[in-house]
Amino acid sequence: MGRKSHTRGKCGTVFRVNEPTHVSVLTGAGISTDSGIPDYRGPQGVWTKNPQAAVTATIEHYLADPDVRRAAWQARLDHPAWAATPNAAHRALVDLERAGLLRAIITQNIDELHQRAGSAAGKVIELHGTLHRVECVACDLITPMPEVLDRVRAGEEDPPCPRCGGIQKSNTISFGQQLKPAVLDAARDAARSCELFLAVGTSLTVHPAAGLCGEALDAGARLVIMNAEPTPYDPFADQVINEPIGRALPELVKQIIERS
Ligand SMILES: NC(=O)c1ccc[n+]([C@@H]2O[C@H](COP(=O)([O-])OP(=O)(O)OC[C@H]3O[C@@H](n4cnc5c(N)ncnc54)[C@H](O)[C@@H]3O)[C@@H](O)[C@H]2O)c1
Ligand SMILES: [Zn+2]
Repeated sequence: MGRKSHTRGKCGTVFRVNEPTHVSVLTGAGISTDSGIPDYRGPQGVWTKNPQAAVTATIEHYLADPDVRRAAWQARLDHPAWAATPNAAHRALVDLERAGLLRAIITQNIDELHQRAGSAAGKVIELHGTLHRVECVACDLITPMPEVLDRVRAGEEDPPCPRCGGIQKSNTISFGQQLKPAVLDAARDAARSCELFLAVGTSLTVHPAAGLCGEALDAGARLVIMNAEPTPYDPFADQVINEPIGRALPELVKQIIERS
């Protein structure tokens, strides 16, 4: 991993005027907290408050224990994503795309808020899948989440696959599951073919997502990290911005567009 000169604080120190900049952005749960979806590891995080929730999030527990599945369906029913709308940070990335500067958004989020903000579906790489669909673990049938949630509301506590009777789950990557190889390849391509790699709202502790920062650096990109708390990649970044994303990202995007 390449060692870069390390500057902290105010935006703007790593951008050169009139330099073509293709930006790949890695987003995490921190970009959606302003939309009312809590993160996992921040001070108000779901797992910070309830470490046991991380244990039951594994695919092994989900498949083995009907109680875990029943609790998971109830949690899906009440998920804050259903009421969430995109915030200023999601919208800033739409501006970056419209300015012709966005290579890709690689997101660890499962909330589809980038697409709802107006980012083109083809620009969004969903590393960890989406909560808006359901998959059968036996026959891979994919169905819309609202249909299955209606069945839960009607009394089916652990609704089986309508085609084969198999166990169903949200179309997301649980702990213990591998990422889809084609999706990871697309993310690696995006990380290796940008001049600027921007990591926003992620603790950079989940791999292989976090390793994309290293791939971008190895390919010669500058790395900017925007997150309230320190991350393991801070020492390698050209700039670390420890400010609220809802304000800092629109500001940074404005600067990138003005300097391009
Ligand atoms: N919105 C979602 O879709 C959602 C929500 C929770 C968890 N997840 C899943 O859980 C995993 C969590 O990993 P992760 O790295 O994305 O999240 P994380 O919870 O590990 O880290 C989020 C980071 O964002 C920071 N943060 C939160 N709000 C912020 C703000 N307004 N301004 C600045 N910083 C802020 C926190 O300090 C924290 O370090 C992901 O793999 C994702 O699939 C998704
Ligand atoms: Zn099935």
